[in-house]
Amino acid sequence: MNISAELLSFLRGASRVVVLTGAGASQESGLRTFRDSQIGLWAQYRPEELASPEAFARDPKLVWDWYAWRREALKGARPNPGHYALAEIEKNTPEFTLITQNVDGLHRMAGSRNILELHGNLQRVRCADCSSVADVWDEDAESTPRCAKCGGRLRPDVVWFGESLPLDQLEKAVKATRACDLYFSIGTSGVVQPAASLARAAKSIGAILVEINAEPTPLTPAVDFFFEGKSGEILPALAQAAWG
Ligand code: OAD
Ligand code: ZN
Repeated sequence: MNISAELLSFLRGASRVVVLTGAGASQESGLRTFRDSQIGLWAQYRPEELASPEAFARDPKLVWDWYAWRREALKGARPNPGHYALAEIEKNTPEFTLITQNVDGLHRMAGSRNILELHGNLQRVRCADCSSVADVWDEDAESTPRCAKCGGRLRPDVVWFGESLPLDQLEKAVKATRACDLYFSIGTSGVVQPAASLARAAKSIGAILVEINAEPTPLTPAVDFFFEGKSGEILPALAQAAWG
């Protein structure tokens, strides 16, 4: 892997770093990327048919079970070297913001601190009626669990197709991006808005753009440095080269 002296000096000298991660950042933790997560029982559905308010209204138990299945997959999952390297970069950077589209909580487990979760978190549920959020609940074999406060239907506290992102997280993400000098896009296909447009916003204020992905994406032609490969290998190599 070729890490240029120029990139190392950007890394060491950056005062405000913003990182956006997607499902690819968790692939080496054994989690499937979003566009690959329809296997076995779920192969007959498209994600849009499961991850939407309409799907939940039509068949809440089906949608609940898909998330329960994804939660099961998360049980044995551990952060990979890429997650740890991001926590390391945070320690070495004056201001660091980690924006993630992942709902798996692995960045926090790896020690990252300043995290913005744009798409929610799989380990939380929210009442579809009164919006109260919980991280423990009683499963119901027949149906979806009910809210302890109002008896309403609980749903995963994640963002679905057609829903808006949590405003506070999004505002912080945009603010950090508009002030950064170095921006990383890692393991995201870059096709889902508004996360995808953050990179453009960073570029427009003159930030240096770095992308790490298993393959080129629509963003690749716009970046200053592109690393084609696994984030679990490239990120540790970058952190090691910069700070040893
Ligand atoms: P995708 O599944 O669309 O893209 C994953 C990206 O990671 C692809 O570009 C892969 O090439 C890349 N990739 C795979 N393994 C990798 C590895 N080990 N290292 C580096 N890159 C790797 O996932 P996202 O871009 O995260 O939203 O998808 C964004 C959003 O689309 C999701 O958060 C989800 C979905 O709609 C919601 O659920 C709201
Ligand atoms: Zn409620």
